[in-house]
Amino acid sequence: MANLEYSKELMKHFKNPKYVKTLKNPSGIGEVGNIRCGDIMHLEIKVDEKGKGQSKKIKDIGFKTFGCPSAIAASDVVCDIAKGKTLKQAKKITKDQVLKKLKGLPTAKIHCSVLGIDALKKAIKDYEEKNG
Ligand code: FES
Repeated sequence: MANLEYSKELMKHFKNPKYVKTLKNPSGIGEVGNIRCGDIMHLEIKVDEKGKGQSKKIKDIGFKTFGCPSAIAASDVVCDIAKGKTLKQAKKITKDQVLKKLKGLPTAKIHCSVLGIDALKKAIKDYEEKNG
């Protein structure tokens, strides 16, 4: 039988997300859509300019979305993992890391967990393109 339950962890991030916000002068912006459901994710990062290239750290991060509860919770977790990480580390965040933190997702909702990751990767790319 299909798993139709959300975990307690997912509900915690959905009801009380820490990172639903926009940033002042973001360093990079990533926007992606999910072709399966039409939802949109907008994610912003602020990069600490100390350090060099890929070793610069993400000092703040936030997102806004028209996504479902899974997308909101998963993106909140992505932000939690990415904050304080270097750009190199943030690029390596995986769906499995997110699913582990959420204590799983109903099978039909797995695709929602990648929206935040994709938006983060796009925001980093945006930052890197703007900064050579
Ligand atoms: S159903 Fe659209 S992101 Fe989950």
